[in-house]
Amino acid sequence: MVKKDQVMVVTIDGPAGAGKSTIAKKLAKVLGVSYLDTGAMYRALTLKAMREDVNMESEDDLIALAKRTTIDIESLDSGVKVLLDGEDVSQDIRTVEVTNNTFYVARAAGVRSIMVEWQREMGLRKSVVIEGRDVGTVVFPKATRKYYLDADVEERAKRRYDELIAKGEEVDLKDVLSDVKVRDEKDFTRKVGPLKKAKDAVVIDSTKMTIDEVVEEMKNRI
Ligand code: C5P
Repeated sequence: MVKKDQVMVVTIDGPAGAGKSTIAKKLAKVLGVSYLDTGAMYRALTLKAMREDVNMESEDDLIALAKRTTIDIESLDSGVKVLLDGEDVSQDIRTVEVTNNTFYVARAAGVRSIMVEWQREMGLRKSVVIEGRDVGTVVFPKATRKYYLDADVEERAKRRYDELIAKGEEVDLKDVLSDVKVRDEKDFTRKVGPLKKAKDAVVIDSTKMTIDEVVEEMKNRI
């Protein structure tokens, strides 16, 4: 039971396309707390590295980039607003190119520790639902409640595909499936902050569940 004056941290980790963002946003709204999308931070730094032609193979260059960057995430009713050095990049960070390049930033240990500090700062200020890959294992190991949200890879690829089509992008389901598998492999196997289930996380498989069913189940367990 969370006391009135206590900060509540709910973490949701899981692979790409499991429904984390939509569900985390809804759950945050139902609980009346903030929502923090940590993937957006990795995406924003990747976008800046791409724009500035930074050598993404070089961890030192990426750390230097992170140190001269400010990323702010504002949770809005409609979703999140991502500010990269004050510029609204909420749309620009969702392209296929940015998605496929995030692993450079995500595998750099020095960059991850900077990200983790930022996320802890944001999370400790007020109650939050935070989603990502390492938020229950590394960022908030003492979270109030931890979830690991999973779904079959074909279902996850189908959801990504529908999302991209709705945005007017021309994509092929087979390519999206292969991108999701490549991203899974990278997320599961990187040396720092890999995607894994925290021992005390409640595992929910969303393959055959609606968004509202997942949100309801999560809410009931808090
Ligand atoms: O969640 P989203 O798909 O927006 O995340 C983009 C990428 O950022 C992921 O594929 C992952 O490599 C990285 N990421 C991470 N740690 C997090 C959140 C995202 O490494 N906590």
